[in-house]
Amino acid sequence: MYNPFSLEEKTILVTGASSGIGRAIAIECAKMGAVVFLSARNEARLRETLAQMPGEGHQLIVADLTQEDDIKSLVEQLPQMDGVICAAGISALKPIQVVSEKDIQAIFDTNYKAPVLLTKLLTKKRKLNAEASLVYISSISGNGNTATALSLYGSSKSALSSFTKYAALELAGRKIRCNTICPGRIETQLLQNQTMSAEDIEKDIAKYPLHRYGKPEEVAQAAVYLLSDATKWITGTSIVIDGGRTLN
Ligand SMILES: NC(=O)c1ccc[n+]([C@@H]2O[C@H](COP(=O)([O-])OP(=O)(O)OC[C@H]3O[C@@H](n4cnc5c(N)ncnc54)[C@H](OP(=O)(O)O)[C@@H]3O)[C@@H](O)[C@H]2O)c1
Repeated sequence: MYNPFSLEEKTILVTGASSGIGRAIAIECAKMGAVVFLSARNEARLRETLAQMPGEGHQLIVADLTQEDDIKSLVEQLPQMDGVICAAGISALKPIQVVSEKDIQAIFDTNYKAPVLLTKLLTKKRKLNAEASLVYISSISGNGNTATALSLYGSSKSALSSFTKYAALELAGRKIRCNTICPGRIETQLLQNQTMSAEDIEKDIAKYPLHRYGKPEEVAQAAVYLLSDATKWITGTSIVIDGGRTLN
């Protein structure tokens, strides 16, 4: 049956596949026919993701993406890829007055440096097939949708979104596409780690015209779209998935 969004015969790497958005993307990619390489630090949680994925040939690669040697080893273990999802990321609520150098390093190493080095090595080691699609999970926090105590997180995502455009330009000669997805708040562990009070969450949800936070699957379906042949002529752009939050 004709399906321009099929991922049959595609091999996809998903970082951050042990939880939340990355997990949902890995599962959705498998449902759409892809063979998926799942990466994160926590092997047990990667196995939980794998248990929810249809199809065969999926593989786990444990890696701490803040460590360059782990990124090198990850890339060495990969076959030729048709798509990559950089979903691994961390957040922290940190008012500027209490930000430490360690905080800056932790957020930027994970949210910015890791996807940059991964892109570098995947291209340098020629692990990307022609017309491969690279998708970076950024955030509306990086698009000027500011919130108190999220300056480090937001600026790391601004840097990632900016990098994606430069990568799109540089890799276009090899027909490799680079795009970001910018979600608003999605119900995942990351949100729980931000320890917002129930009252703050209620006030925050009121700012969403569609009156709720998003679900990981709703980001995953956009990722499938960007990985698929339906978007062969889309590069250097961003899909905002935020229930209308940035309309306010
Ligand atoms: N949830 C939201 O509201 C929201 C909104 C906009 C954008 N995002 C972005 O979406 C992405 C996924 O977030 P999420 O909400 O799904 O968060 P999550 O449930 O906390 O998942 C984060 C993932 O990143 C992995 N990870 C973190 N540090 C890592 C490291 N050093 N090396 C390798 N993997 C690492 C974690 O795996 P291990 O712990 O097993 O390593 C986990 O799989 C992030 O980039 C986040 O910034 C989230």
